[in-house]
Amino acid sequence: MIVGILGLGHVGLPTALGFAENGWSVIGADRDSAKVAQVARGEAPFFEAGVQETLQRHLNSGLLQVTDSIPSAVESCDVLFVCVGTPQGDDGAADLSQLEGVAITIARNLNGYKLIVEKSTTPVRTAERLKRTISRYANGNHEFDVAVNPEFLQEGTALHNFLNPDRVVLGVETERARDLLLELYRPLVARSELAGDNPEDRLIVTDLNTAELIKHASNAFLATKISFINMVGDICEAARADVKEVARGLGMDPRIGPRFLGAGAGFGGYCLPKDLRAFVRIGELNGVDMSLLRAVENVNDERINKLMHKVHEALWVVQGKTIAIWGLSFKPDTDDIREAPSLKVVTRLLDEGAYLRLHDPLALAEFQKEFPEQVGRLEYYDSPYEAAAGADAIVLLTEWRDYLTVDLSQVRDTMEVPLLIDGRNLLDPAAVRSLGFEYHSMGRR
Ligand code: UDX
Repeated sequence: MIVGILGLGHVGLPTALGFAENGWSVIGADRDSAKVAQVARGEAPFFEAGVQETLQRHLNSGLLQVTDSIPSAVESCDVLFVCVGTPQGDDGAADLSQLEGVAITIARNLNGYKLIVEKSTTPVRTAERLKRTISRYANGNHEFDVAVNPEFLQEGTALHNFLNPDRVVLGVETERARDLLLELYRPLVARSELAGDNPEDRLIVTDLNTAELIKHASNAFLATKISFINMVGDICEAARADVKEVARGLGMDPRIGPRFLGAGAGFGGYCLPKDLRAFVRIGELNGVDMSLLRAVENVNDERINKLMHKVHEALWVVQGKTIAIWGLSFKPDTDDIREAPSLKVVTRLLDEGAYLRLHDPLALAEFQKEFPEQVGRLEYYDSPYEAAAGADAIVLLTEWRDYLTVDLSQVRDTMEVPLLIDGRNLLDPAAVRSLGFEYHSMGRR
């Protein structure tokens, strides 16, 4: 069986490598020729742990081939995973035009039975439309099935997530599709058996619409947890309590769990914000009251205002002040800045007349594309020490481990004013204050 991966982005490339790791022959296709050329040279087009090495290994082993011709990938492969983008449209709904484009290309190049698997995150009932589109445009009378196999990859650990899934969700309509997908995932299931797990606990075989909903509902629930703890953080702040302790206590309840209870600058990234909006939209289109999730979004939007309020309280006048920004990516271990809080905070501080000194371990190049140094009043530094030198304040926006190991007393000595606003509650307030810093964080005493 040859596996085709259509779209070599943050989902497609780790998925292609994951299947190759499991011994399958994989053809990765993307219409972006420059990206394909880069991947073919063994260079990952974005930072993702383990991707670069695994890519080189499987280009050498021959298990992975890449092409900029989607039609040729369709012709050569038995199973096609559709991993194209489903960005946000103007009204908040998912823009499914790339998906439709790929469906038409698949239809026109069918040359035998194919299983077409939707991996991109899509609103419920998209797979039904995918199927209808392929039928309409099909070239001849070839059989095909459509299935849904949502990705649950987190950026920064995508390859690890693929190889150690907490769940495998298969939405299928036919036995043939189910059997093919089970065959493809057999190495992963075998591995969890070896680990002593019951594979049934991690595998869900269901219908197309349910599979799509599992993905949207999962991301909406994660977003809800984060906005919930941010709301609790605001109460903590008013009551002089500590949201980190509250979250620890909450998370000890196994019905709640400790993860995704980190209060701070709110959630960003390519997936959570857009998937939440698309879920709200599809719910409302179906006449469902989605006000719960609208509130989740509102709480998140307010986080930047809360953070800016702290900056104003601490600095009083922002105009003319020099501010170091520590952390630009939307979360640690990635160079991705899409919907990162840093984009809004930097825009607002520049609008207010601040001078900015920016640091991030990985995302400087990406950020520079949006904010070149030529726009003025902003400079990029490879070291957090250099970024902080001469600053009136540091604003920490991403919880990189690097900032935990910075020698803060050295930083303090080079700052104009030792003031630190921790938008991620990364540091220990007592320890930072004992070094002579004025320290503010989100929802803590
Ligand atoms: C998310 C989903 O987790 C993943 O399952 C899906 O496949 C893709 O979308 P990702 O975008 O990589 O993954 O980011 P995630 O780790 O979920 O974090 C999203 C945002 O929430 C980040 O900005 C992060 O800083 C923020 N966050 C996360 C918090 O503010 N608090 C937390 O406790 C956890």
